[in-house]
Amino acid sequence: MSIAYNSSLQSYNTFGVASVCRAFATFDNVESLRALLHQADAPVFILGGGSNVLLPDQFDRWVLHNRIGGIAIIHTSGNAVTVRAGGGVVWHDLVTWAVEQGLGGLENLALIPGTVGASPIQNIGAYGVELVDHFQQLTAYHRANGAIRTFDQDECGFGYRDSIFKRDQKDQWVILTVDFLLNRQPELRLDYGAIRDVLSEAHVQTPGIGDVYRAVVQIRRSKLPDPAQIGNAGSFFKNPVIPTEAFQRLQARFPDIPGYPVDDSDTKIPAGWLIDQAGWKGVRRGPCGVHDRQALVLVNHGGATARQICALAEEIQADIQQQYGVDLVQEVNILE
Ligand code: FAD
Ligand code: EPU
Repeated sequence: MSIAYNSSLQSYNTFGVASVCRAFATFDNVESLRALLHQADAPVFILGGGSNVLLPDQFDRWVLHNRIGGIAIIHTSGNAVTVRAGGGVVWHDLVTWAVEQGLGGLENLALIPGTVGASPIQNIGAYGVELVDHFQQLTAYHRANGAIRTFDQDECGFGYRDSIFKRDQKDQWVILTVDFLLNRQPELRLDYGAIRDVLSEAHVQTPGIGDVYRAVVQIRRSKLPDPAQIGNAGSFFKNPVIPTEAFQRLQARFPDIPGYPVDDSDTKIPAGWLIDQAGWKGVRRGPCGVHDRQALVLVNHGGATARQICALAEEIQADIQQQYGVDLVQEVNILE
């Protein structure tokens, strides 16, 4: 078990900020996790792919990087197949593996960066599918008392970009494995975004899961900045969910505003539209800025610090509140 003190995290966060932590170590099984938690002489932070974090210049924590691997089919019943993946598995590798095995369910979630272990934290979602749709259970290690237990779907309290692991159970557990319910004859979800257009451009008449996977990869590559080219953590803010009555009042002032009903009383509005309309797309503030194709993504043009990115985020939040009366809540985990 090697521990690196005063270690740089710049290549471990997709924003690419130059952060230095007190100590850095990786674990690939419960025993090494247990030993590291025991040895740590400062608060511990569990790091996956670093694709949803904004790290401070000096991070006075022990950063433990999850490398628990393994993907296996653990149960089959007719077309229904349960797959277990280690928390350190790269999310897109799991999706690719499932598609190669002919197992449907995760294909709309292709190319989301990060690890399997982080996927339940904010109930990752894209293109009409959320983790919760194919989640069966997870196993987790309690950081304080070392207990290992399972959490089923209800116990995880999933919501839009939300779970108990972001609320009352925040920083209590290390997610070790996640079980997914997949299917050999899945119902494909083609209605969201440009999926059907891309399939028809590719002359795919009877799509399979591989076609949906490729379409999603193509759409994402055209829309979202690649962190290898320009630092970012995906959507910086969540899409606000507001009472439908409030949405209708906004619609009266801004007839083009998009809105998607989430239930009988609430409507989700795309924060990217608000930020874009408010004139922020492509705006730069020193080394950071707003992406020029997706206004919901803040970017590090090189050398930006968390403080600078947060200052920009706060400027945007204040402006959106002033112009639309809507509060933007950050999706990215901002650390101190
Ligand atoms: P990290 O950033 O390493 O950690 C995130 C949080 O999870 C931290 O609080 C960390 O402590 C905690 N954590 C990580 N692993 C564990 C574990 N094993 N046990 C307990 N806690 C843990 N998200 C979406 O939902 N949909 C998208 O379409 C999407 N697109 C993106 C596109 C880009 C270009 C980028 C950069 C990000 C995008 N994201 C998206 C956000 C991000 O990919 C997800 O939130 C992802 O699940 C984060 O995984 P990670 O391993 O990088 O987590
Ligand atoms: N829009 C604009 N201008 C912009 C960006 C978006 O007008 O600069 C409009 C679009 O025209 C569209 C709407 O906003 O009408 C929605 O845009 P898009 O389809 O790009 O999706 P999003 O709402 O910005 C969400 C998720 C993404 C996910 C995509 C696809 C959140 C916070 N973000 O983005 O997730 O990949 O949908 O499902 O829910 C992430 O969480 O990090 C993430 C990237």
